[in-house]
Amino acid sequence: MLRKNFFAALTLIAGGLLVVVSSCSEKSPGVEYMPDMYRGPAIEAYQPNGWFADSLGARKPVEGTIPRGFLSYDAYANTTEGYEMAKANMSMPAGFPKDSAALAEGAKLYGIFCGHCHGEKGDGNGILMKNEKFLGIPSYADREITLGSIFHVVTYGKGVMGSHASQVTPEERWKIAQHVMKLRQELVGGGSEEAAANQDSTAAPNDSTAASSNTNDNTQS
Ligand code: HEC
Repeated sequence: MLRKNFFAALTLIAGGLLVVVSSCSEKSPGVEYMPDMYRGPAIEAYQPNGWFADSLGARKPVEGTIPRGFLSYDAYANTTEGYEMAKANMSMPAGFPKDSAALAEGAKLYGIFCGHCHGEKGDGNGILMKNEKFLGIPSYADREITLGSIFHVVTYGKGVMGSHASQVTPEERWKIAQHVMKLRQELVGGGSEEAAANQDSTAAPNDSTAASSNTNDNTQS
């Protein structure tokens, strides 16, 4: 009687083990009625696949792809010619805000990134100039500048002024440039010949100064 029970228990344990082991080694979940539901046909981003030679699911952008919102500045090289070209031809992208909000933002950024050298008024008397920590900073009144040339100088630097490309985005540069042009206007304004010429040019849209500050027919992509 005891022996019989022992064998029955043994059979049960062995049978149980067999079920457990066999279900472990089972690789297939069994019949797949609709395999697409288990394994989506779409490529998984980080799974190798047989579709592409490099088997990567996440594809690299096509060569020449530019990020959304990126303003290409390739046309204007970091050379004297590039500077002159930007001064003569370059203007703000079409539709770029020129309202008081943009100007206020430009003034704020100018205070952060430029004022310590160029001075609050743009006369070249920033705190670093006053303390003689940095010399040779010009007054904007003494430079023939346009929105395009300011953008170029902020992007690449000029002489001892370094590039500010890593500090201010292209959008911010255009806002700062607008503020710098306003400062220059205020500096040269005051009845001088230059001021008169400047005001005239603002009124006449075919003048180069006016073209760069007031129009955007020369769109940059
Ligand atoms: C460390 C001091 C310093 C800072 C900061 C600085 N500049 Fe200048 N900047 C200079 C000096 C020096 C020059 C003269 C460069 C030359 O012509 O050799 C100059 C020249 C310029 C010119 C005249 C270039 C021309 O076309 O003749 C402009 C415009 C200008 N800076 C704008 C800016 C703006 C905008 C900023 C802030 C984003 C800025 N600068 C920040 C030192 C500085």
